[in-house]
Amino acid sequence: MLTVVASENGSFGLPAAWRILQDGGSALDAVEAGARAVEDNPADHTVGYAGHPNIDGIVELDASIMDGATRRAGAVGSLQGYRHAITVARAVMERTPHVLITGSGAARLAAEFGATQENLLTEGEHAYWAAEVGGSKAGLLAQVRQFTRDPRDGAGTVDFLAIDRNGNLASAVSTSGWAFKHPGRLGDSPIIGAGNYCDNRYGAAACTGWGELAIRASTAHTAVMAMARGASPAEAAAIALRDLFELPTDGLLPLMHIVVLSPSGEHAAATTMAGARYAWQAGSMTELTVSDRLVVQP
Ligand code: GLY
Repeated sequence: MLTVVASENGSFGLPAAWRILQDGGSALDAVEAGARAVEDNPADHTVGYAGHPNIDGIVELDASIMDGATRRAGAVGSLQGYRHAITVARAVMERTPHVLITGSGAARLAAEFGATQENLLTEGEHAYWAAEVGGSKAGLLAQVRQFTRDPRDGAGTVDFLAIDRNGNLASAVSTSGWAFKHPGRLGDSPIIGAGNYCDNRYGAAACTGWGELAIRASTAHTAVMAMARGASPAEAAAIALRDLFELPTDGLLPLMHIVVLSPSGEHAAATTMAGARYAWQAGSMTELTVSDRLVVQP
């Protein structure tokens, strides 16, 4: 059954993903198109153009894409100057022998395939950065600690999971990461297994939230492996989030959201923060719907 599942902010790009599936396109094309649309959305300050900058006032993007049929994957980290990080991630997968390329190497790859270079920092985001960070005289590490003390300040990100008419699954994640992060910091979004994992045999999962936790616990992979052992998507989502509760977080909520999709099109989403929702469209539905996530708390 044709299916697209996304984090709630993916509602903006879900129609683009859905059109591709309906026209007979691949799950890979669908998840890339969905993420690209969100990367273009100037109202979303956690993904692509107009994303929150790092501590130096520079927008650095992370993204990954995974093909469930082959488990090929591509990812970019700390990409500057190109809004469609997901397309650069796909180029890593399809045009290089690598999985993850970061920084100037990622920008060079984008330039090589003709992507348009631009300044991703909008006036509004520059003003936000200047008000929050710009006047600080503290050392860099002290500043980063101060401004990233609460992951809810900066952890956005968009997730897309899809099944196409051939029954293939794909997953995509794109983000500008934690607001005012240390330059070069990678979250879970470009780390295969942490923020993104997809395997036609068992299903797909993708995360938004506190990336460092998902890296430490391989959260997306944990959910997919739970389905490999027979868990439903809802059970797998809950298992992956509960696995975080053993990690020390200095008293902060282990903020994490996960979307999960089985090969048969069953889906679920869970969160550690009540109120978070997710978007999806499947089968004969004529428009997307937004549903509550299962709340899983320590
Ligand atoms: N989950 C996105 C990030 O931590 O950067």
